Amino acid sequence: MFYAKINKMNSNKFLALTFVFAISTGMYAQKVNPNKELIVLKTKNTSAVYAINSDSMVYLYYYGKRLSNTADFVRYDGPPVGPIISAYSGKKFTEPALFAVHSNGLLSTELKYLSHNIKASGDTIETVNVLLKDKLLPFYITVYFKVFYNEDIIQTWCTYSNNEPGTVTLKKFASASIPVLSEKYFLTKFYGSWFGEMKMEDVELKQGITSIESKQGVRTSHTFNPSFIVSLNQPATETTGELIGGTLAWSGSWKLSFEKDAEGKLNIICGINEFASEYPLKPGDEFSTAPLLFTYSSEGKGLMSRNFHSWARKYGIQDGNQLRPVVLNSWEGNFFEFDEKKVIAMIQDAATMGVEMFVLDDGWFGSNKYQRDNDAMGLGDWDVNKKRFPKGLDKTIEEAKKQNIKFGIWVEAEMVNEKSEVYEKHPDWVLKENGRPQYAERNNYVLDLTNPQVQKYVFESVSKVIVQNNYISYVKWDCNSPVTNPYAPYLQANEQQQFWVKYIQSFYKICDSLIKTHPNITFQVCASGGGRVDYGSLQYFHEFWASDNTDALQRIYIQNGTSHFFPAISMAAHVAPVPNGITQRITPLKYRFDVSMSGRLGIELLPSTLKPEELIFAKEAVRTYKNIRPIVQFGNLYRLVSPYQSSLASLMYVTDNKDKSVVFVYQTQRMFGDFYPNIKLQGLHPDKQYKVNEINVDSSSKKSFNDIESVYSGEFLMSQGLNAGYWGKQGVLSVNLMSEFASAVFLLEEVK
Ligand code: GLA
Repeated sequence: MFYAKINKMNSNKFLALTFVFAISTGMYAQKVNPNKELIVLKTKNTSAVYAINSDSMVYLYYYGKRLSNTADFVRYDGPPVGPIISAYSGKKFTEPALFAVHSNGLLSTELKYLSHNIKASGDTIETVNVLLKDKLLPFYITVYFKVFYNEDIIQTWCTYSNNEPGTVTLKKFASASIPVLSEKYFLTKFYGSWFGEMKMEDVELKQGITSIESKQGVRTSHTFNPSFIVSLNQPATETTGELIGGTLAWSGSWKLSFEKDAEGKLNIICGINEFASEYPLKPGDEFSTAPLLFTYSSEGKGLMSRNFHSWARKYGIQDGNQLRPVVLNSWEGNFFEFDEKKVIAMIQDAATMGVEMFVLDDGWFGSNKYQRDNDAMGLGDWDVNKKRFPKGLDKTIEEAKKQNIKFGIWVEAEMVNEKSEVYEKHPDWVLKENGRPQYAERNNYVLDLTNPQVQKYVFESVSKVIVQNNYISYVKWDCNSPVTNPYAPYLQANEQQQFWVKYIQSFYKICDSLIKTHPNITFQVCASGGGRVDYGSLQYFHEFWASDNTDALQRIYIQNGTSHFFPAISMAAHVAPVPNGITQRITPLKYRFDVSMSGRLGIELLPSTLKPEELIFAKEAVRTYKNIRPIVQFGNLYRLVSPYQSSLASLMYVTDNKDKSVVFVYQTQRMFGDFYPNIKLQGLHPDKQYKVNEINVDSSSKKSFNDIESVYSGEFLMSQGLNAGYWGKQGVLSVNLMSEFASAVFLLEEVK
């Protein structure tokens, strides 16, 4: 039907191309091949046109807005944008996706097309694979495109296969090369660190290579996230501009490079980082790369995000069609200071607040010798901490059952402390460079997951925790160190460069076994906060902990950045104590709730520290969230005003059928003289009438929004909007959010 059709026809009309226009073709010009074969990938709103040229190689000619007729490409003799995959060939010197040393010592790879085929899975997904071969040697590449029609997302990866008589060594083995041609290119990078994830920076890409990468092995989305936006011609806004957005589904070291070449083309290369790595392929072996997900938007970043979100809810995360519970996590309320009595009291308070899941964080485990009193001991010994829970977790779990609240637990199974019985018994299970000092970030040694015995131990440890405490329905999987001392005792000396890939393959294998063995468990991925926010992990997890930074003000920025690629349903956002442990900032409880309610709401404080009126507010806020939860967790996101752009930030979610919406507005730091234009809503139906109501109002303060006669058309709300920077008396569609950390939430419901 729609996508990935092979067109073998001539056409009379010449098609105007969006960003494939005539430029000097230099030494790589391809001659016209009449009746050349096309491979067309089609989604609802985009098309990608590849063609097999006279040199028998496949080239990308067009990627952009959907074309209704691609037949003219058959006789188009202008230059292509670039090859379907770029290999180092000895005549092309830009950064390649593949650099292989062949069995006969040849350093170059020259590819030709052999065949392609198309396989549909259901009505809306099609996988196209294109088989290429070195012109001389039996070395093959299959480039895959999984085309998600409704979501406008293309997933691409490739396999490198060796049929040569000897070993081929892959020195660079990226997943994809996306050639682009436009007048100018602007890259949005997502960078940060522990406590400050997913900040954004826009740079114009000039001549040369710009790369972003992680070399950490694990906890790989902290310094940069493996996601990018390349705006074409001019920087895209939320609602305007052409762009290509991509995100690499890989949880290990990765690299994205953007090279503007001498012809003004941009070559985007995405894949596993080749740093300190090489991958030998013995005869008959093949290597599959990490998938890259990408989309094209002609309507700015907002549409790009919605494409990724709807794809993720269906295909990218676990159970994306199921509502998430409201969580109370014990960490920031207690840190390591707790015992059974305190935990039971928390569970009771959680139930009073309407919380649905209690998660017992770090500190609940250990062995007789090493109880987990702090982060220097006990990691790896997965028995219940007898000091805190003398008779095990039974009593605590009984209380959770009694309170009708689910129970979750924290694990950090890929790492151990030196002070653990497991390390004492198996010192050869951790990464270790004999003769060099052993580094331990947060006192953690990284387990050698390439060792099948270690894989078994990790799987069995977590399984045991789940099975022995049979009421567990949520596991928070943490990981608090990068790879240090990168030498895997299980691997031979000459295999060490494969460690980085094998570690992540083993991690995925363990995750896969766990979700299959325990299909009813909700899994959260965490790595010192948002250190593993990538679609590689998320294929096994339901959600991620976006950051250890729970300061509501900073969370507005972190969540804004994260929301570019990852949907609200997967973004755990918790209300934490004040002053905030790291920033010392004090923000109102309502502000903290309003910020957390725009993601997967949770609470991470000791309820008993709340004042009675705060407890009443918190309880009501949880009830309110449950009411708007389907809109937030399944709705379409519109970032109305970025916190980077104005101190009055705003976002909203709209249901698929546009009958309901929730709008969040946050004042960050108003400076005298700041002027706030009306916030124009988006995504509503212009002809529908909506009742607008302020919700989650703090009863101790006056309700700030006057809801008399508050029924408006979608058209009015999207063109006139909401005034949240109103100085004087409050009135219809005007709310005073002029003071620091003021916030408001509005529920819009269609009136029929
Ligand atoms: C990491 C996590 C936190 C918490 C602690 C426990 O830092 O990101 O949420 O679980 O570990 O040690």
